[in-house]
Order: sequence, then structure tokens, then C-alpha cells
Amino acid sequence: MKTIAIGCDHGGFELKEELKKRLTEEGYATLDQGIETLHSVDYPDIAVKVAHAVTGGEADCGILICGTGIGMSIAANKVRGIRAALCTDCYSARMTKEHNDANIITLGARTIGVELAWEIVKAYLGAEFQGGRHANRVKKIRQLEG
Ligand code: RB5
Repeated sequence: MKTIAIGCDHGGFELKEELKKRLTEEGYATLDQGIETLHSVDYPDIAVKVAHAVTGGEADCGILICGTGIGMSIAANKVRGIRAALCTDCYSARMTKEHNDANIITLGARTIGVELAWEIVKAYLGAEFQGGRHANRVKKIRQLEG
């Protein structure tokens, strides 16, 4: 079973706790990178922790949650080796794994509800990278990292 690194800022704390509970119930191991209590933090500080857990191999993939999911995606995508996708629908969540081999999804706790967030997470975790022509495209993304 996959290990999922998960993290949030104050905008995503409640959703993070709920998703972590559901992931655990489904048998996933979670690596919680904070925050542990509801207090104001800077989302890049959490994004980098989850990103490093993924690139370091401690987790298979990651979930980052802030108010919109946008700040987390911008920050996580600065980390070499990370392909973070902001997802607001299940189709995108599946496709970003199948085509982009996204290793992090980001969610906006202030833009989508808990149930949609959970469906998005399940769609992402249930998908497999398709390789083939997509592997070459992902390779080109990696080359952009210099
Ligand atoms: C925090 O207020 C908010 O800026 C943050 O959660 C996120 O939405 C940033 O992209």
C-alpha cells in the first residue's frame, strides 16, 4: 500500500485532518508534515516538507492543501523532481497521474468541499502512469529543470 505525504497550511487544516483519517481507514500509510494545530503558517514551508518526503522516497506521492491549492502548487513545483497538480475535479486528478505522472496533488479547502476532495484523492490514487508517449513528455519536463 502506498505511503502518502500530506500537509496543509491554516486554510487547509480541517480538510487535511479529514483526508488523513479517511486515507488511514482505507489502509494507506500517511506521513503528516503538518500543521498539527490550527495556527497561521506560510504554505511554502509545508510544501517543501511534503515535496522532499516525495523526492526523498519516504512517500510514494503527496497531498498538499491550502485555501485555494494554488500557493501549494506553485511552491511544490519549485522543488526539483516534483510535478504538483492543482485538482478541482476527478477527471483532472486521474489524468494528471496517467499523463503527467504527477507526484503531488494540491487541493483548495476553500474552493471545494470535503466529499469532492475525497473523490479527487481516490481518483488520483487509483490511477497509474501510462508511460509510452507520455514518458517522453515527462522527460522533457524534467529537462526543463536544467
Ligand atoms: C492563506 O490565507 C492562503 O493564502 C493560502 O491558504 C493559499 O490559498 C495560498 O495559495
